[in-house]
Amino acid sequence: VPPAHSRRPIIAIDGPSGAGKGTVARAIADALGFRHIDSGAMYRAVAWKAREAGVSLSDEHALVALAGRSRIDVTSTRVAVDDDEVTRAIRTPEIDAAAAAVARLPQVRAVLVERQRRMGEDGGIVMEGRDIGTVVFPGADVKVYLDASPDERARRRALDPAHSDRSSAVSDVASRLTARDELDRTRAASPLYSAPDAVIVDTTSKSIADVVSEVLALIREKVKT
Ligand code: DC
Repeated sequence: VPPAHSRRPIIAIDGPSGAGKGTVARAIADALGFRHIDSGAMYRAVAWKAREAGVSLSDEHALVALAGRSRIDVTSTRVAVDDDEVTRAIRTPEIDAAAAAVARLPQVRAVLVERQRRMGEDGGIVMEGRDIGTVVFPGADVKVYLDASPDERARRRALDPAHSDRSSAVSDVASRLTARDELDRTRAASPLYSAPDAVIVDTTSKSIADVVSEVLALIREKVKT
């Protein structure tokens, strides 16, 4: 990835599920006229494709090959794998678990990280995930780590219209979410943690609008957009 002075800005947004990354990243990208990429959708897409192709989640070799040959298109509103539109199909409790399993595998990550870097090499991008500021773009111009209390994150997930877990009891959502976060935080390959130079924003009792203006102010302070 080219140095900051020779490209447009790269904004990295990391944090656990339900911290508000998707909503905030999209709003910020809209406000700045940048592209928004949800890197988690790429791990979900590989998990979906594995199920479709009958590839076992424990067969790392086959999963790496599958990731390598699958075309994954991620835009702010639509996710597609090869010829299948999977925007909704990747947001189910089953794919939540499968994507977390896929995301533990270093070689699968290597395939996706390479594509993420290519998508961002010209800048003008807001990318959200777990390892964007730590691994994908360690030289990102602005790094934000969004967090919220576990209860609040489960509540948001249960209310998320894009996710089929909406119908489940909040307590079920909460236990699944906590288990999956634990996997993300403790795995050996690119675990979730905040980069030392990230600004941590706790969104627990803040409105979306407040978080968005806080992050936009931070970006304007750090880079000329
Ligand atoms: O953000 P999400 O819930 O859609 O992410 C799906 C899974 O992929 C989740 O287990 C975290 C993982 N992930 C990752 O390891 N690295 C990323 N950059 C994005 C997501």
